[in-house]
Amino acid sequence: ADQRRESLYVISARAGKFFQDVMWNTEEGKTIGLGYFRERGFRDDVLKKFELGYSPDSWDAFIETALKEGYKENFIEEAGLAIRNDKGRLYDRFRARVLFPIHSFTGRIIGFGGRTLKTDKKVPKYVNSPESEIYHKSDVLYGLYFAKKAIRDADNCYLVEGYADVLSVHQAGIENVVASSGTSLTSAQVRLIGRFTKNITILYDGDAAGIKASLRGLDMILEEGLNVRVVLFPDGHDPDSYVHSLGSAAFKSHIEKNQKDFILFKTSVLLKDAGNDPIKRAGVIREVVESIAKIPDSIKASVFVRECSSLMQIDERSLITELNKLRQGKL
Ligand code: GTP
Ligand code: MN
Ligand code: MN
Ligand code: MN
Ligand code: MN
Repeated sequence: ADQRRESLYVISARAGKFFQDVMWNTEEGKTIGLGYFRERGFRDDVLKKFELGYSPDSWDAFIETALKEGYKENFIEEAGLAIRNDKGRLYDRFRARVLFPIHSFTGRIIGFGGRTLKTDKKVPKYVNSPESEIYHKSDVLYGLYFAKKAIRDADNCYLVEGYADVLSVHQAGIENVVASSGTSLTSAQVRLIGRFTKNITILYDGDAAGIKASLRGLDMILEEGLNVRVVLFPDGHDPDSYVHSLGSAAFKSHIEKNQKDFILFKTSVLLKDAGNDPIKRAGVIREVVESIAKIPDSIKASVFVRECSSLMQIDERSLITELNKLRQGKL
């Protein structure tokens, strides 16, 4: 089994090198792939560090190379690099896409995210490697290998939504940044961050739709005993677009000025939603108390009780009563 895993690592590394070779050394790769990244403002040193590449517009460019070098069909397929059609023929999974290799936290390539260059809405924007014996999406954070030292030094981890955000924020000199790459954050990912710091700052895309839905999921970070702050970006911006259009100084100051503690953020988002409706406001109180109840550290929890009671303009003691009810329920 270890040998199988090792074979998957080896072919993934080979693919990474192939996609880099194509991007830096072929006409198609230079014009289209490298051209795309440069157009977006990525520096060559960052492209090299993160081992970005390009897959040519072909059904079998990688497969042919790999087979010629003696790699076995079933490993190419199991590594997610090829797909078998109805007739049993293999074709390349990544075609005409710029590629973001996904590294394990020891720096080995375990999968890829591939972005289309087309603006056609019918084409999926990203195609990702499927799960394999070496790639378990829910246990991986994009960029962690390049971020872990900075996370420890800063004693904080920035969490963004996309691959491009990781690259751009890193390029701006803020290297303690990772992404959960398309899936919602899992407790395994939070524990992974927890090895390096107890502080997470979430940098949300400015598309408000997703935010309310994600609030409940984030209670899980509190349960893991980490501190969470959130920063919203202006509508239509994500960290990548913000840093490229306004520069890294503006980006840093946006974070400084707009970071909010998660519980206070959640309270104000929900309160705004509830308006003056007393029943809805009561619902908000209950939901906020549920979050506070998940904080293992009782001193920290009591600080939040105080701050939230003033935000919600209700008596601190009634919050404490609710909190105690919930806690007893758990025993
Ligand atoms: P850019 O447009 O290149 O800047 O990408 P983005 O990261 O800003 O994309 P977006 O905010 O739309 O999505 C955030 C993340 O969700 C992406 O980085 C991907 O990991 C994931 N994602 C987005 N679109 C798709 C898709 O069509 N399929 C899959 N599987 N994942 C996607
Ligand atoms: Mn799995
Ligand atoms: Mn988004
Ligand atoms: Mn985005
Ligand atoms: Mn983006």
